[in-house]
Amino acid sequence: MSETPERPVPSPDPRAPGAVADQAGSTATSPAAPAAASGATIELENLTKRYPGSAEPAVDSVSMEIKAGETVIFVGPSGCGKSTTLKMINRLIEPTGGRIRIDGEDVTDIDPVKLRRKVGYAIQSSGLFPHMTVAQNIALVPRMVGWGKARVKERVEEMLELVGLDPGEFHGRYPRQLSGGQQQRVGVARALAADPPVLLMDEPFGAVDPITRDHLQDELIRLQHELHKTIVFVTHDFDEAIKLGDRIAVLRERSHIAQFDTPEAILTNPADDFVSGFVGAGAALKRLNLTRVRDVEMADVPTVTIDDPLQDIFTKLRASGTNELLLLDKRGRPYKWLRRGDLMRAKGSLARAGTLVHDTVTRDATLRDALEAVLTDNAGRVAVTGRRGEYTGVVDMETLMNSVHEMLEADRLDALEHQHELEEQRARLTRKEQEGDGGGEAKA
Ligand SMILES: Nc1ncnc2c1ncn2[C@@H]1O[C@H](COP(=O)(O)OP(=O)(O)OP(=O)(O)O)[C@@H](O)[C@H]1O
Ligand SMILES: [Mg+2]
Repeated sequence: MSETPERPVPSPDPRAPGAVADQAGSTATSPAAPAAASGATIELENLTKRYPGSAEPAVDSVSMEIKAGETVIFVGPSGCGKSTTLKMINRLIEPTGGRIRIDGEDVTDIDPVKLRRKVGYAIQSSGLFPHMTVAQNIALVPRMVGWGKARVKERVEEMLELVGLDPGEFHGRYPRQLSGGQQQRVGVARALAADPPVLLMDEPFGAVDPITRDHLQDELIRLQHELHKTIVFVTHDFDEAIKLGDRIAVLRERSHIAQFDTPEAILTNPADDFVSGFVGAGAALKRLNLTRVRDVEMADVPTVTIDDPLQDIFTKLRASGTNELLLLDKRGRPYKWLRRGDLMRAKGSLARAGTLVHDTVTRDATLRDALEAVLTDNAGRVAVTGRRGEYTGVVDMETLMNSVHEMLEADRLDALEHQHELEEQRARLTRKEQEGDGGGEAKA
């Protein structure tokens, strides 16, 4: 259903904008830049942490497998052992039992510095060193693992670009001279600097306001589309988990896994009351977090650009079936909504006519973000933009209603199918038991 395919990585066009396209492009010309490392598998086997002096282990024999390139979210109540489990993966906390394997290699006993190459780490309130500049903070791990000066310098610039900060402007600033969201971006840049296949994030967006958090989440999704790291992400926020996770591990006390499954499965089939409690009310609304704008059939409005002759714009306004046009700027970005009569009233001046587009959503935004934008828009629609802010379509109430209906219908069918399978299974078991009455072979 989704239209234009995303740009493949690596990009065939080295001048294409976008960090990874640039990275991929530069590998061809610069021997200093190695190809980006994508994700590695993580296996935890009976991983246990007993803090000295505590009667109970903080983490009790956790086993799980995380696939390469997967984003796995840990959610669970405060104190259940999420951070302890996460920090054992890069041995910021030493396990007291069990094994950790990354891409099959047992890293439980290797030198922790070597491990930092494989595992990046970002935490709440960015954890930047206040006495170091942005560049020094980002350079930390690459320098620690012995990269040359020139390569580190190039990498710092590359990372700043990747997280959407202008290197020229931010390079020399100190963390206190940044907003919370910018600090968080630098934190992510620092975690990714040595190009580790694994990225651990402990409530990285916990301390920023909801709007910034939303942006940072969108950026992480975009980054992950390009980088395919293995990400383990801790959060308190179930909505955040649904939005970001390929799979979610709902943890109870001592990091016991209550359910480890896809967001869809957890929302539609919570394993028990503990998980239902976490999912909370409004599962249908939460479902909107699971679908991206890119996946729905967008509406299309007629567009004109500010360079088009006025006469053409008049003609199009008169001809178009809808009574509205979207005026795009020179770079194809939504600029103004134009209605019939607007141009007349403004005496043919495009500068005065129409209403400025004040809100757009990206193709990576969730339907929930889109709903928010549609609900707060006077005319009940929002323009959707691509990577460079260019117009790609419109989402309105009708688009949303149609997709929600489709989604809920699909969920309902899934649930029915699941129920059917369970019933068949039960029937098979009963039959076996009946046939096996008196005979031992049925137990095999
Ligand atoms: N250094 C320590 N020494 C002793 N006990 C600790 C230590 N660090 C954590 N704990 C205990 O281990 C348990 C798990 O803590 P952890 O920080 O992993 O929880 P969490 O799930 O990350 O919680 P939160 O959501 O509040 O961040 C808690 O009971 C905590 O009190
Ligand atoms: Mg924690």
